[in-house]
Amino acid sequence: MTAMARLAVANREQIDRIYAESHALWGGGLKPAEYREFWSELASTPWAERNVRYFVWLGDEGELLSSLKLYHPRIVIDGTAGRASIVGAVFTPRKHRRAGHARELISAVLDHSRDEGDVVALLFSDIGTRYYADFGFRSLPSTEVWGRLTGSPPGPGNWSSDEMRAEHLPDVRAAHEAWCARQPLAIERSAEHWQFLFVRTAGFFRRLGDRRLRHRATVVLEDGRFVGYLIAVEGHGEWSVREVGAVGGDPGKIEGVLRHGAAIARAEGLRKFYGWIEDPVIERMGGWTLRRTTRRRAQPMILGLDEKLDVEPLLAGGRVFFPYQDQF
Ligand SMILES: CC(C)(COP(=O)(O)OP(=O)(O)OC[C@H]1O[C@@H](n2cnc3c(N)ncnc32)[C@H](O)[C@@H]1OP(=O)(O)O)[C@@H](O)C(=O)NCCC(=O)NCCS
Repeated sequence: MTAMARLAVANREQIDRIYAESHALWGGGLKPAEYREFWSELASTPWAERNVRYFVWLGDEGELLSSLKLYHPRIVIDGTAGRASIVGAVFTPRKHRRAGHARELISAVLDHSRDEGDVVALLFSDIGTRYYADFGFRSLPSTEVWGRLTGSPPGPGNWSSDEMRAEHLPDVRAAHEAWCARQPLAIERSAEHWQFLFVRTAGFFRRLGDRRLRHRATVVLEDGRFVGYLIAVEGHGEWSVREVGAVGGDPGKIEGVLRHGAAIARAEGLRKFYGWIEDPVIERMGGWTLRRTTRRRAQPMILGLDEKLDVEPLLAGGRVFFPYQDQF
């Protein structure tokens, strides 16, 4: 145990050291330098500058014992807004593992978040749920959906789709906001938060440089008027939907946008479908052969930090849904 260990905000050199070691696990196909640049570009977006902190747990001689990223998005739970603490990228250098450093770091960070008045802590676990359950985190449902793109007809003849551009963003944001307003729990997105998400995905795929994979953001229009949006990764025969939204956050309209996008994807030769899709939309996808499984990675967990908040009612299946883009 490190009686004198302390919490600190990571400096540049410490961050680089963590990336050098975590690249093997989280590099996602990027080269080490690209991986570092990717995170550095993201860290300098206005949203990240304000809402993301890289914390380290330091031993009494300054040695780096463990690390994590803490994200602070706005969250609305049953109509009440507040700040969330989302724990990501928990990483202990190999030589310091299994000595309780991550446990101490996480506890210290959660105390800090509680002191700052954050309403909940969230995380998306890649290592199962048992470790985080010890801190009081509870599991939220997490499914993913697989299927085949069959020859479903496109939307009505007056529907079209177009590449998402800056001029569409107010409509996209409004659709997402309306969707949030229907949820028992939702991570809200300011314009800066949206920019952070675009930089994250575009920055990753640009650096990956794989011509067989394409990140695509589109809007669906009815007689030229905005109906909804789709954010997807296409390639290797698969249409992987990362987010779908529609005017008013309405599941019926979202269904239409999804079907329209699927028809286009299929016409372009894609045959497989993958996505995190909320239950009210899945239930409408008659004619699609979908297989729903429990996720093994990015399993969401929640911990109430404000004693007045009861998270219990949020835990039931099908209540809380995080779009893929909300994972940190
Ligand atoms: C997970 C990690 C941060 C734990 O750091 P640590 O300082 O060793 O953590 P602690 O000493 O507090 O706890 C160790 C416990 O973590 C849990 N744990 C570690 N890796 C795990 C894994 N892959 N799956 C499930 N549990 C795991 C185990 O309960 C372990 O105890 P055990 O080895 O006796 O079974 C570290 O193993 C790591 O950096 N792994 C690679 C990055 C990663 O997977 N991060 C988690 C992302 S959600």
